[in-house]
Amino acid sequence: MKFQTQIGMHDILPEDEFYYQKVLEVCRSAADFYGFGRIETPILEETQLFEKGTGGSTDIVHKQMFSLRTLGGDHLTLRPEGTPGIVRAYIQHGMQSLPKPVKLWYFGPFFRYERPQAGRYRQFYQFGFESFGIGKSVIDAQIIQLFYDILKELGFKNLTIEINSIGDSCCRPYYKKSLVSYLRKYQNVLCKDCQRRLRENPLRVLDCKQEKCQRVVRGAPQIIDSLCQECHDHFQKLLEFLEALELPYHLNPYLVRGLDYYTRTVFEIYDNKKNEGSRVALVGGGRYDKLVQLLGGKNTPACGAAGGVERIIDLMKAKGEKLNGFSKPAVFLAQVGKLAKRKALSIFEKLRESNIKVAEAFYKDSLLSQLSQANRLGVRYVLILGQKEALENKIIIKDMKGGHQKTVSVKKMVQEIKKKLKK
Ligand code: HAM
Repeated sequence: MKFQTQIGMHDILPEDEFYYQKVLEVCRSAADFYGFGRIETPILEETQLFEKGTGGSTDIVHKQMFSLRTLGGDHLTLRPEGTPGIVRAYIQHGMQSLPKPVKLWYFGPFFRYERPQAGRYRQFYQFGFESFGIGKSVIDAQIIQLFYDILKELGFKNLTIEINSIGDSCCRPYYKKSLVSYLRKYQNVLCKDCQRRLRENPLRVLDCKQEKCQRVVRGAPQIIDSLCQECHDHFQKLLEFLEALELPYHLNPYLVRGLDYYTRTVFEIYDNKKNEGSRVALVGGGRYDKLVQLLGGKNTPACGAAGGVERIIDLMKAKGEKLNGFSKPAVFLAQVGKLAKRKALSIFEKLRESNIKVAEAFYKDSLLSQLSQANRLGVRYVLILGQKEALENKIIIKDMKGGHQKTVSVKKMVQEIKKKLKK
C-alpha cells in the first residue's frame, strides 16, 4: 500500500519552508510596527461557532467544513477561517475591557473542503490581522495599508485593492429587496447555485463567476447607490484615506465577499500580473461590526483581513524569487580514531555554545573522505582531531584555501577560529 497526502493537502518540504518563514517574518515585523499582539487559537472549535460566525448561508459552512464528532459526542470543526475563533477568544478572555483598539494577529493552518484547483487547497495557511473596538474608517484604511505593506515587502510591486461597501443592517435590507426584485426577473437564466443564493443570500449572486450570471448582474442596482448616510460617509472617508496613502484601489460594486459577517467595508487585494489559471485574491477582509455581539459579546465594532500564504508563495516562485535559508557552516570538524571521535562529540557541543556553525561527518572514519565533504560544502576551515591531538588536548586548524595549518590547544580553539573568521 502506498500512502499519499490527501487531495488538496501538501507536505511542506525543507526548501518550501524558507518561503513560509519569510512570510511569517515579514508579518511579525509588520505586526510589531503596527502594535498587533500574536494570538493562536485551537484548530478545532465547536461547529456552531462557524455556523453562527462565518454564517449558515455561506459556501464555507454549506459545503466546505471538515467536521467530526468526538467519542464524547461533541460536534467539532477544523477551522475554515480565523475570525470566529479570534472573536471567541476576545470574548472568552475578557479583552473587551482592554484599552481600544485591541489588535491581534495570527498565522496558521486552515481547512476547507474545496474542489481542488490552482490556488484552492484543502489545507492552507493564512495570516490574519484583526482590530477590535473602533468603528471609524481610519482603522479600515490602516488594515488595508498593513496588508499592502506586507505584500510589498514580499516583493509584490503591481497590486490592486478591490473595494466596496455593503452597508449595514440599516440600509442593506432595502438594497436586498430591490436586488431580489430585479434578479427574480432573470431567475431562470441564473446558475443553480445562484438560484439557491437568490433565496438564501441574494448579495452573493453579485460575485458569481459564471458568465451567464455576470451578464444579469451587470444590469442590477448597485449597493453603493443605496447606502444610508452613515455608511456613505464611512465609505467616503475611507476612500479619502486610501487616496492620501496613495494606495491603488479600484471600486468594485460587485464585491460582496463570501462570509456573512461583513458590514460596510469589504476589500480584496490582487496581484495584477497575469498568471496561469484564474485570478485569485491574495488577501481578503473587511469590517464586521456585529460579529462580537452575535457570538455573545458586547456590541464591538471590528475590522480585519487575512492573506493566503500558499497563494503568495506560489506567486513568489512564479516570479522567480529564490529563497535558500540554509546558512553555510563556518567550520568542518574532522576526526580520526576512536578517542578522537569521542572527543569530537564534545568539541562539537563547545562550538555550538560559542555560536560557530559546524559541519561534521562523525559516521565516517576516513580523513580523506571527510576533507572532500568539507570541500563540497565550501567550508574554509577544517578542524582536525587525530589520535595524537586527542591525547594532547589539541586540535589542528587547516585553511582549505592554500592548505596552511596550525595546531592549537582545545582551550584556545574558539578564540583562534573567531579571529580567523573575522578576517
Ligand atoms: P477569505 O477571503 O475566505 O477570508 O480568506 C482570506 C484569504 O485566504 C484569501 O484571500 C486567500 O488568499 C486565502 N484562501 C482562502 N481559501 C483558500 C484556499 N482554499 N486555498 C488557499 N488559500 C485560500 C477569511 O478567511 C476571513 N477570515 C478574512 C477576514 C479576517 N475578514 C475579517 N477578518
